[in-house]
Amino acid sequence: MGGSEHNSALARADAAIATHAARHLQPRPLYHFTPPFGWMNDPNGLIQWRGQYHLFYQHNPFGTKWANMHWGHAVSDDLLHWRDLPEALAPSEAYDNECCGGCYSGSAVAQDQHLSLLYTGCIRDGAVEKQTQNLAFSDDGVHFTKYAHNPVIAAPPAGASEHFRDPKVWRQDGVWHAVVGGSMAGLGCVFLYTSSDLVNWHEHGILHHAEADEGWMWECPDFFLLDGRWMLTVSAMESGKGDSLWFVGDFDSQTKRFTVTQKGLTDFGTDFYAPQSFIDDRGRRILLAWAGSRSLKPGVEQDAFTAAAGYCGHMTLPRRVTLAPDGHPCFFPIAELNTLRQAYNCGEATLTDRAVVLLQSPVKASLEMSLLLCFAGTVPDSVTLTLRHDREHLTSLTYTPSDGLLRLDRAQTDSITRGVISVPVGLVASLPLRLWLDRSSLEVFIGDGRQVVSANLFPTYGKVTLELCVSGAGRVTASWEIWQLAP
Ligand code: FRU
Repeated sequence: MGGSEHNSALARADAAIATHAARHLQPRPLYHFTPPFGWMNDPNGLIQWRGQYHLFYQHNPFGTKWANMHWGHAVSDDLLHWRDLPEALAPSEAYDNECCGGCYSGSAVAQDQHLSLLYTGCIRDGAVEKQTQNLAFSDDGVHFTKYAHNPVIAAPPAGASEHFRDPKVWRQDGVWHAVVGGSMAGLGCVFLYTSSDLVNWHEHGILHHAEADEGWMWECPDFFLLDGRWMLTVSAMESGKGDSLWFVGDFDSQTKRFTVTQKGLTDFGTDFYAPQSFIDDRGRRILLAWAGSRSLKPGVEQDAFTAAAGYCGHMTLPRRVTLAPDGHPCFFPIAELNTLRQAYNCGEATLTDRAVVLLQSPVKASLEMSLLLCFAGTVPDSVTLTLRHDREHLTSLTYTPSDGLLRLDRAQTDSITRGVISVPVGLVASLPLRLWLDRSSLEVFIGDGRQVVSANLFPTYGKVTLELCVSGAGRVTASWEIWQLAP
């Protein structure tokens, strides 16, 4: 195993981060992970190893725009409080040394005494990208050495496009398995591989592929056993259905066939991409995603609001994934979040036409809220929860029973985000909502977490006021609980 080029590249990255170290600069989310400095996208290599949670992530340590992909690295005992570690991977070899490429996404597994990473190296040959799968190892979980004989998967399967990336590895029946994202005949797909040693890989063709409106390329696949069924998640490029898709079905490990019985969206929001999951020592399947701002006004750069604070991008809250009895996946923030709760406020009110109730006077915009809306008799035309940021700026969440939609509207939120996100919740007798707001991050969980909306907000004022209002004849009984959350 070589490594001097890699070590020098890592040292340059760590020096750049130390120079900028701007984590304290506002406005950053308080309880969502952000990188110490620079651009961040996908979570990588999520694993609990020797008792600690490891989060690696796509990172540009030199600036707040996407370039030069490194693997940033942090560890935690509770998935909420993170400690930054030195960069884990830096572009340094012929197969990954590229400023418009680098060490792309991948995953981590524990093998013997090592922590092993399988990641995509991306370089460019003129207009064509060359993406290969590569290995790196560590004995201490901090310093990683690239395998001397990389790449371990040197080319995509015959007939596939050059887009071939983001290996997710797991162990099953004593064999390493990996899914890799790709594209075949203009449709997104996931390729399946197996290996006895992580070095020599055997190709098994396509595990699953997109329908015509499900994206031309699938990135960041994840595939796992969940409560007796198998679940595939992918991040779909230019899909008409949404960015983040899940498929639940059955996997025959002999024939390697995956038969899908249900599918849906992992998140209805615009700012959720590249989810990756892992299983922890309590047997929980936990998922994190990149909450990249993907719904900005035309011409606005993704780092427009946060570059001054030295970063761009945050991670979603860690979400536990479970399967409801009807086979539908549910996503819900991990219970550890309760430990962040501080000041508490609750109330209940029955509202009729044009009633407005103040649920929370101005507080720091880092809070958790539980809101239950119960309808009986005539239903009103709409019920709106308003997050008032300042005199001119507000974000609203409106339920209209007539079309059964819950709409998150950011038209008046700030000067850079846009759009209305609609979630079909149907005509319901009660609507339980859970919200986590953390300055620029809003995550709304509907009911048991079958539907989730992640959306970023960039109001300049750091406080928020919460109100509820009703319009139209009919009535709704609302009960709420609000907690201030500590960093
Ligand atoms: C998804 C993605 C991955 C790739 C990485 C590069 O956001 O495009 O497919 O590995 O980001 O940073």
